[in-house]
Amino acid sequence: MTIIAGTVVKGKQLGRKLGFPTANVDAKMHGLRNGVYGVLATVNHQFHLGVMNIGVKPTGSNLEKTLEIFLFDFHRDIYGEKIECSILFKFREERRFDSLESLTKQIKKDISCAAKRFELIGIMAPNKKESLLSHQELNLPDLCFYKKCNNLYGVNRGVYNVIDNWFFEYGITQVAYRRIYILSFLSFLKEDNPKVSSKYIRFGAGGLADKLNRFISSYVEESEENRLG
Ligand SMILES: Cc1cc2nc3c(=O)[nH]c(=O)nc-3n(C[C@H](O)[C@H](O)[C@H](O)COP(=O)(O)O)c2cc1C
Repeated sequence: MTIIAGTVVKGKQLGRKLGFPTANVDAKMHGLRNGVYGVLATVNHQFHLGVMNIGVKPTGSNLEKTLEIFLFDFHRDIYGEKIECSILFKFREERRFDSLESLTKQIKKDISCAAKRFELIGIMAPNKKESLLSHQELNLPDLCFYKKCNNLYGVNRGVYNVIDNWFFEYGITQVAYRRIYILSFLSFLKEDNPKVSSKYIRFGAGGLADKLNRFISSYVEESEENRLG
């Protein structure tokens, strides 16, 4: 699970007309499935949340696989700038729409759906003004950050360390990114098992390794390299 990095290039600029100016990114997309994702992006050393579409944009006539990102609350022109992006979750498949109006409606839904997930994960406040990102919570000392996860999800220190270590081995070497993945994974576990009202986290059959594999395979193409033994 590497971070996707590339340069922002010009698209057909239709997104701008639809009301969603997107950054088209010239990046390697090996192993990434087409679809619509919630992402964390970095532009000029600043974190931003957004939605990303990877695919061939079947509503138009584009046949090439492209990657484009709509960043929340972002109004700057960034053509030619570097962007890094990390996938937090996938929420739907790319599909063909009968009209641009229906596509626009769907993208609006995508944005509110992603915002809800970001709130659930704890990286975006409902009023969008105070987010975990702007509060620098991601840069808290280790113990404070662990305590936050413990309060939110009932994860104990041993399990937290295993998850942290697993994401590090997986290639997420930057601490702030890894912490977002940890929050994202913990919220995935909770969502996966909504009926369990216990304060403590449960992994069910297959244990933690199985859940980590399922979390990753929800958006990364299965490969031997990506599987946990
Ligand atoms: C969140 C998001 C979801 C999208 N989903 C679809 C989709 O399901 N089908 C599709 O044909 N295009 C989809 N698109 C791509 C739009 O068609 C695209 O943004 C628009 O055509 C602008 O492209 P351009 O910047 O190359 O002009 C999506 C774009 C975004 C940002």
